[in-house]
Amino acid sequence: MTDTLGPVHADLGPEQLRERIADELLAARARTAALTDCVDDRDLTAQHSPLMSPLVWDLAHIGNQEELWLLRNIGGRDPMHPEIDPLYDAFEHPRAERPSLPLLPPAEARAYAHEVRGRVIDLLGASPLEGSPLLAAGFAFGMIAQHEQQHDETMLITHQLRQGPAALVAPAPPAHLEQLPAEVLVPAGPFTMGTDTEPWALDNERPAHRVDLPAYWLDTAPVSNGAYQRFIADGGYQEQRWWSPQGWAHRQQAGLTAPLYWHHDGGEWLRRRFGTVEPVPAEEPVLHVSWYEAEAYARWAGRRLPTEQEWEKAARHDPATGRSRRYPWGDQPPAEHHANLDQRHLQPAPVGSYPEGQSPYGARQLIGDVWEWTASDFLPYPGFRAWPYREYSEVFFGPEYKVLRGGCFAVAPVACRGTFRNWDYPIRRQIFAGFRTARDAEPS
Ligand code: AVJ
Ligand code: FE
Repeated sequence: MTDTLGPVHADLGPEQLRERIADELLAARARTAALTDCVDDRDLTAQHSPLMSPLVWDLAHIGNQEELWLLRNIGGRDPMHPEIDPLYDAFEHPRAERPSLPLLPPAEARAYAHEVRGRVIDLLGASPLEGSPLLAAGFAFGMIAQHEQQHDETMLITHQLRQGPAALVAPAPPAHLEQLPAEVLVPAGPFTMGTDTEPWALDNERPAHRVDLPAYWLDTAPVSNGAYQRFIADGGYQEQRWWSPQGWAHRQQAGLTAPLYWHHDGGEWLRRRFGTVEPVPAEEPVLHVSWYEAEAYARWAGRRLPTEQEWEKAARHDPATGRSRRYPWGDQPPAEHHANLDQRHLQPAPVGSYPEGQSPYGARQLIGDVWEWTASDFLPYPGFRAWPYREYSEVFFGPEYKVLRGGCFAVAPVACRGTFRNWDYPIRRQIFAGFRTARDAEPS
């Protein structure tokens, strides 16, 4: 398998690895604090949407998962508050039910997460970071840093759903405007999908395996608001022929007429974004569309959604070496000039931005900006093994979930890789998801 990576943190000495882990845990906690300190206690305990937990649930759940995996499983410590475990078990109570549970109030949730963290830092200092699969390369610590960042993204989704004035602000991302070809050609041939060597890759990204694909064309950048508005103006939401039967049924039943958060006013499309109403920027990738809407748009455009195999080949395969890389730009970790990540901005950058993040095939913004819906169901790779727990991926495999790739502006680098797989129901729109389209290439 040609999944040999450049220098990654598996090669760090134990002291440097401890530092890297401490930095990631610290970054995640700073973000959690920013997301939960900017609103009052009433806001933290309110349910802003039945789709989401109260913010205070995510806060204590972050601490509880950290206690379970690091203090108890690795450290062998006794539970700190065994009676609260069921409250924060995501499988015991669906999100809509969580506000009615006897949750820890904000001050106690903060104190609990803080207490856990203090003990984790002590544990980290004493840990050999080897000797078991959970400890090797600091995997369990990396998993917990990713878990917190994933819930930070979940909390940011809740912030976007929340009514009322803005609680969060951030500068607009740097815009790079350039005339680019609409699509790039990815020639036929095999590539290595997934990974055996990425040290903090989660179970569903493994193992590495060869996939042979026919040639295809892929959009250079995600579909823009301007392009999506042409679909709407052309009657896209009124014409059943662009929609799959399930998509049309959902469009009818949910009364969809535009992306979530959009409304038409005085001949212009406006959107609500983190408490501010503003004109929809034509050059930005479209956000807050369901998989069904993405599918309908693609059919209207005479195209289709890419499979996740096509997405990953375009993002990782280096035709010069035949090797799959960690990111579209190579193996170096994401820097600010590569991609719009880490909640530095609260919106995607205009299509065609981040030229330094482009892939060898010339595709842009594969990483960051918007999660990209793919045509694919969420399924295990050949040779998949659930690890370290079935409830991360395995219980979700099946045709009811669609795969999203690439991460968005709300994803932290630690939880973002060319191999990373996200999934959700095809009706979901509150997530920071857009899409790009593809088409088969004529065999040459
Ligand atoms: C991978 C984003 C679908 O939030 O449901 C968080 C990540 N798993 N806690 C989710 C996750 C357990 C998961 N997604
Ligand atoms: Fe979780």
